Amino acid sequence: MRFRLYLLLCLAATLSSVMSRPHMWNKLILTHHWPSTFCHVEHCHSNLSYWTLHGLWPDKGINCNSSWHFNVTQIEDLLPDMKQSWPDLLHPSTTGFWKYEWYKHGTCAAEASSLDNQHKYFSKALELYHKVDMDGILRKFGITPSEKYYSFSQIEGVIENFYGIKPKIQCAHPSKNVGVQILGQIEICFNPDFTLLDCEKQLSKESISKVKVSEFSVCDHETPVYYPPAP
Ligand SMILES: *[C@@H]1O[C@H](CO)[C@@H](O)[C@H](O)[C@H]1NC(C)=O
Ligand SMILES: *[C@@H]1O[C@H](CO)[C@@H](O)[C@H](O)[C@H]1NC(C)=O
Ligand SMILES: *[C@@H]1O[C@H](CO)[C@@H](O)[C@H](O)[C@H]1NC(C)=O
Repeated sequence: MRFRLYLLLCLAATLSSVMSRPHMWNKLILTHHWPSTFCHVEHCHSNLSYWTLHGLWPDKGINCNSSWHFNVTQIEDLLPDMKQSWPDLLHPSTTGFWKYEWYKHGTCAAEASSLDNQHKYFSKALELYHKVDMDGILRKFGITPSEKYYSFSQIEGVIENFYGIKPKIQCAHPSKNVGVQILGQIEICFNPDFTLLDCEKQLSKESISKVKVSEFSVCDHETPVYYPPAP
């Protein structure tokens, strides 16, 4: 009986929080990018040879609170990990990328009490990034940067088999090099309670249109995939 009452209370709490927040997101997207491909597209230079964090994006909302200013002091303890795991590939050793991600996505993620300040948001992103360990898992199952090409299903298969969910895998499609696509970005999706979720589910129009790096699009299933070694 007491358990049932507890369930009812939880349900009531959940309903009231959903109703008072009509724009609350349903899904978080942890986005990794491959530095060599990113820099091929964006004309930067990076010798990093591991997947770095691009962002942690809720599926709903962009720039939800422009008066909530990014303040690096609040994540000072995270900076060594931020610099290594979430580097700004375009402007190394600045905080511009984190500020951008905070305004665009963090202020929306912060609608959930689990992410309602800058320290919670950035530390959760780092925590998920380390838990997922995309770089380690790909290496472990033999997907390493190489001059030989992979089939798309080899890469997708490793990720689906290991995590048990569907990722979203994006490639750059250089016009000069028809017949090859370059592995660029891997998204892993989470429920609001941070359990893994298929990325294809509940894909809103908003989340499609907000992809910033327009040169990346979902990899083609037939075209060979180039996974470029770091320079
Ligand atoms: C990458 O570049 C940085 C700065 O240019 C340098 O300090 C570092 O040793 C390089 N790392 C590798 C693995 O070459
Ligand atoms: C936006 O952020 C500021 C600073 O944290 C806060 O005081 C304000 O209540 C927020 N506005 C909304 C609509 O959440
Ligand atoms: C940034 O955060 C620190 C630590 O919470 C605080 O002391 C400082 O006043 C904040 N700076 C601004 C400009 O809000």
